[in-house]
Amino acid sequence: MKLVKDLELGFADAENYKRRENKELLNRVFIRDDHLDNLCEPNISFLIGEKGTGKTAYSIFLSNNEYKDTISSTRYVRETEYQKFVSLKKEKHLQISDFSSIWKVILYLLISKEILKREGSISKLLNYSKFNALNSAIDEYYYSAFSPEIIQALSFVQESKLAAELLAKHAKLKGEESESVTFSESRFQVNLFYMQKKFESALSQVRLAKNHILFIDGIDIRPSSIPYTLYLECIKGLANAVWEINNDFFPTIKGGQGRMRAVLLIRPDIFESIGLQNQNTKIRDNAVFLDWRTQYNSHRHSQLFEVVDHMLAVQQSTSLARGVAWDHYFPWDSPNVFEEYDTPTSFINFLRWSYYRPRDIVTMLELLKRRPGGNNDRTFISYEDFENPEFKREYSNYLLGEIKDHLSFYYGSGHYDIFLKFFEYLSGKDKFDYEYYLNAFEKLLNHIESVASDRPKFMATANDFLQFLFDLNIICFMERTEDNHQPFIHWCFRDRSYANISPKVKTGVEYQIFYGLAKALNVGKEFKEKKF
Ligand SMILES: Nc1ncnc2c1ncn2[C@@H]1O[C@H](COP(=O)(O)OP(=O)(O)OP(=O)(O)O)[C@@H](O)[C@H]1O
Ligand SMILES: [Mg+2]
Repeated sequence: MKLVKDLELGFADAENYKRRENKELLNRVFIRDDHLDNLCEPNISFLIGEKGTGKTAYSIFLSNNEYKDTISSTRYVRETEYQKFVSLKKEKHLQISDFSSIWKVILYLLISKEILKREGSISKLLNYSKFNALNSAIDEYYYSAFSPEIIQALSFVQESKLAAELLAKHAKLKGEESESVTFSESRFQVNLFYMQKKFESALSQVRLAKNHILFIDGIDIRPSSIPYTLYLECIKGLANAVWEINNDFFPTIKGGQGRMRAVLLIRPDIFESIGLQNQNTKIRDNAVFLDWRTQYNSHRHSQLFEVVDHMLAVQQSTSLARGVAWDHYFPWDSPNVFEEYDTPTSFINFLRWSYYRPRDIVTMLELLKRRPGGNNDRTFISYEDFENPEFKREYSNYLLGEIKDHLSFYYGSGHYDIFLKFFEYLSGKDKFDYEYYLNAFEKLLNHIESVASDRPKFMATANDFLQFLFDLNIICFMERTEDNHQPFIHWCFRDRSYANISPKVKTGVEYQIFYGLAKALNVGKEFKEKKF
């Protein structure tokens, strides 16, 4: 077995696997599970998962490999694109429905170029005259140098008059349109609609040999320069466009073996805030929800264990049975495990300190591997390494960083500071009851007033903030049964399921801050005396 220092632990953020040199690594470590098969089902429009659950990893794996007759590609929405939307909105006085029309044209354009690139030669796509005309118009617009990025596709929309004229011109040249049509700069919506129809008629004509998925990633982090409401409008438009093309247009194409589809990568809380109609049915029928939950007593059979164990096993020179690599590197038992196991229970310790997300576990492994002071020829990682305060602090900071990213969708950095302030008012307590919570919240409100800051929306009332802390998995709540034995513990990430996408917190009970975060939030050790 490899020494700990030589272990290759992959990347905690799957965006790194995009680079060509890392493609092989992802193929080696990636577990092809049900989530992957489900993503290839024709009814799927959304890939939903909390931060670090693998959304990007699935889309990149599928983009790197043809799988089940499905060819995929992934595009990212970036800050510059949102900025362009901001200026478009000003320039053309856009309404919400226009955002969705814009996105439709963008998605169609990216998909058209993608199918041509990936199966143009086998399917002879250019023999379809409408598709051919469409392609010539795009080529003329981009001087035959279209690079398939959203920003490029956006400029086609922005110059709607020119783009529509080119589409009309080439349709006429190919004998697909008899009348000459004229377009006006000021009638943006009309031009857009014309473009959309042109794409739809061209795409209905082609017959494909393979299925094609276009993944859209990167909508979960709002750049600070883009105001929240506009950002929300923009991604609402995107989600609606994805939904509409997948349900109202693509299924109408008859013939051929392959189908086209766009899939949006999205966090559950954001999926909720965009407020699509019939959200619950959409989650059940049209989404893959990345769910890594397991119980302590069945953890060895969980997919989460499999992902990590497999990552350790594939890099050894011989092939190993499930669990062998894990037990080699972590040959110890977790404390306070009362059930009997016939294998070491070290993985339970990792579960306790994580939100059952692959990124949490991969990050822990990476930090443990790097632990300084340890000896360089370590063959395994000990329980003492895990208990090392330095490691705990680093990991805790990682978790807080994830929360910061999560929050950045909704709030700016000023609000993040206020949010952190709350934990000071807990006076070091990591376990508290409702009264104590209300008290700390009251102190926080006084603080906000004293610094003349505006109160963030998530702090509108004490219960809103409690729910917010629960949504972020910072606190759990504990219900006691009648006989008052073991408390029943509720975590948002554990209660969340297809049927209950946003679990609610209970008031008037006891709460506890997540172990892993205690260090970064400075709780867990009660302060003797502290005056505020
Ligand atoms: N099926 C799998 N097999 C192996 N590794 C996986 C699998 N699914 C997820 N992972 C690992 O999980 C980690 C986190 O995944 P990823 O970066 O895709 O999360 P994400 O959901 O895109 O998060 P964010 O919302 O922050 O973008 C990566 O290290 C990735 O390799
Ligand atoms: Mg991602």
